[in-house]
Amino acid sequence: MTDQVIVKDEGAVRTIRMNRPDKKNALTAAMYDAMAEAIETAGGPSPVRCVLIAGVPGAFSAGNDLGDFMKAATGGEGLGNSVVRFLYALARAERPLVAAVQGVAVGIGTTMMLHCDYAVAAADARFSTPFVALGLVPEAGSSLIAPRVMGHRRAFELLVMGRPFSGEEARAVGLVNQVAPADQVEAEAMKAAQAIAALPAEGVAISRRLMKGAPDETVKRIDDEAAQFKLRLASPEARKAFEAFLGRKK
Ligand code: COA
Repeated sequence: MTDQVIVKDEGAVRTIRMNRPDKKNALTAAMYDAMAEAIETAGGPSPVRCVLIAGVPGAFSAGNDLGDFMKAATGGEGLGNSVVRFLYALARAERPLVAAVQGVAVGIGTTMMLHCDYAVAAADARFSTPFVALGLVPEAGSSLIAPRVMGHRRAFELLVMGRPFSGEEARAVGLVNQVAPADQVEAEAMKAAQAIAALPAEGVAISRRLMKGAPDETVKRIDDEAAQFKLRLASPEARKAFEAFLGRKK
């Protein structure tokens, strides 16, 4: 249990709010588990029809907690069970996922979009995946899905070069559906979630399965990426990058 993720059901919409504002919503194992649980339990017999993922003003998520990455690197560990559980939950989600993005969306904060069915971003949102600069490689199935969504070159720019995308750029490459002023992002995302939740549920579920296909290919890519990620976490490049962030002076 953690109070850094708040789960709330309103009608048929479940909102999962990442709520660690002092750390820009950097994600810990407990947060991944809470988010995975909320997505998993929205499926099956649950009356939830749509899941909305949101952050706090200024931060959707700063990505994985870099202190945790440092510990994993020193301990010779990989992404960790909680992270992988969350990635599987995204790939296997039975209900449509909607995202409301304000502020920074780093690493998994960006790659999560690739699993969402609808996403609204603030114009000044900042999507970035500095995996390679951190000595790492892309995760969350992004090496498979991003090139399909935006083509190889733009995916390369995002995932390998680590170039940040604004909300408008994210919309232009198909990473999000809609751009809104920061103070209206959540209301717009909720409007979309409620509209999805009001549609005939079986029709939504079947259409979505037909469009996305079986999650197996994505799950396999998540595993392949995780194997590489583990090797990269142990690399001197990664350790140096984590030390630089954790030891920086403000
Ligand atoms: N892991 C751990 N702590 C993090 C974090 C992360 N991924 N991202 C931010 N924080 C912490 C900062 O250390 C700082 O903590 P402190 O106040 O105790 O020093 C706090 O959150 C606020 O961050 P700060 O850097 O001061 O905010 P900013 O607005 O200047 O910058 C970011 C925000 C997200 C651009 C910057 O924090 C950053 O680059 N974070 C690392 C992102 C990252 O590489 N994630 C991993 C992706 S794979």
